[in-house]
Amino acid sequence: MEKKRHTFSSGIGFVLAAAGSAVGLGNLWRFPYLAAKYGGGMFLLIYIILVFTFGYTLMIAENAIGRKSGKSSLDAFAALKKKWGFVGIIATLIPCIILPYYNVIGGWIIRYFFEYFNGFMSDISCAFWNLAPVGESGFGAHMAAGGEYFTNMLGSAPTLIIVQSIFTIIVAVVLLMGVQKGVEKASTILMPVLILLAVIICIYSITLPGAIEGVKYFFIPKAENFSIMGVLAAMGQMFYSLSLAMGIMIAYGSYIPKDSSIEKNVGRIELFDTLIAVMAGLMIIPAVFAFDPTQISKSGPGLMFVVLPQVFDSMPLSNLMGMLFFFLVFAAAITSAISLMETIVACVCDHTGLGRKTSVIIVALLTLAISTLPALGYNVLSGVKFFDRFDILDFMDFITNSVMMPICSLLICLFVSFGIGTKAIEDEVEIYGAFRRKKLFRIMIKYVAPIFVLAVLVSSVLNSFGIITM
Ligand code: TRP
Repeated sequence: MEKKRHTFSSGIGFVLAAAGSAVGLGNLWRFPYLAAKYGGGMFLLIYIILVFTFGYTLMIAENAIGRKSGKSSLDAFAALKKKWGFVGIIATLIPCIILPYYNVIGGWIIRYFFEYFNGFMSDISCAFWNLAPVGESGFGAHMAAGGEYFTNMLGSAPTLIIVQSIFTIIVAVVLLMGVQKGVEKASTILMPVLILLAVIICIYSITLPGAIEGVKYFFIPKAENFSIMGVLAAMGQMFYSLSLAMGIMIAYGSYIPKDSSIEKNVGRIELFDTLIAVMAGLMIIPAVFAFDPTQISKSGPGLMFVVLPQVFDSMPLSNLMGMLFFFLVFAAAITSAISLMETIVACVCDHTGLGRKTSVIIVALLTLAISTLPALGYNVLSGVKFFDRFDILDFMDFITNSVMMPICSLLICLFVSFGIGTKAIEDEVEIYGAFRRKKLFRIMIKYVAPIFVLAVLVSSVLNSFGIITM
């Protein structure tokens, strides 16, 4: 990596690559269940404000740090100011915890894809032989029954371990073959298809009887739905969805050509990522109200896997829709997982002197081993609960997004203010193009963002221990 750093051929190349990393399970799986859980419109409002103020500031800072230092996260801080090297270590640790549970969800997606694929195949053979379809409303019907399919899947440790291993192995094989270029091409075709399908499913969901209540819930903020835990969750989701506060955007920044505007690119990535998240919310939340409003209060990581089958089941060509949809989610997830694993592999390569192939294999084996824990958390180890309420997967998710990432973002703000000075970042941004929101950037990174993160972190800890209630 240190040798000759090739840059993206154009700003658009960077935007596509960064969007490929940003758009993934965070938008499609994580955002809708958090929005459902933390008060719909209120969560959406907080999220959007955060993305375009705090997220904007942090993404500019990270990209500029990357382009200035020409290094990835682990070394970038040290390269600019030796004393601050430790921030790079914390930042790099985060993807190492995210990847193992990302793969677990990737595995669920694969399982669902094959379920619909089988259903579709039997639809085709029924049509071909002129037979009546199996069951009343097609093959997908049994998946719809109140999330029973999902619960059964989680109960079976071998199933989970097999599917998530398949996911991890695919990611590792892509990295070994070095076909990232091909993956990038594929995702530029698949992404528009995903958007088109999402629009169709959105329209369908919104027009279900009773769904309008869900649309209202998602778009209209209600003051009584405000909670400090909701703010913390929205902040964590913002980091997660934009791949911030973990050094990823630093690595991407180091590939931005000097004659490309950082500010413009950041704006595009944020807008795109947020639009996809809002669409995912519109596919899922109105449907919850149409089928079973009680799901809203119970919503957790399984929401998408319980609600969408119900939507598909009531659509024409249900198996085809389900199959297509889960394939596209798989495509979005795999590009993100590749970029996650690549980050870790690059660090291992640079710092151990091991070859790339060996590093990929070691990282993949470690990921496989660690990811059995979150999978077993739903069956064999279901007794293990952190703070009385987190399963293992939830806990890995919570500790990274709601604890480590806020701390890391705070450190990045302090690094910019006290380590290298905001001017260093501003100059880097202004190498090409104007920095129109420079004032906003300066005030955010110096004062608002650090104070905000501290306040939210402290009050949510106090809240968790019942010392204050907010
Ligand atoms: N942003 C990705 C998503 O929305 C998830 C993610 C978090 C990620 N950190 C990352 C992807 C690092 C690639 C690299 O799903």
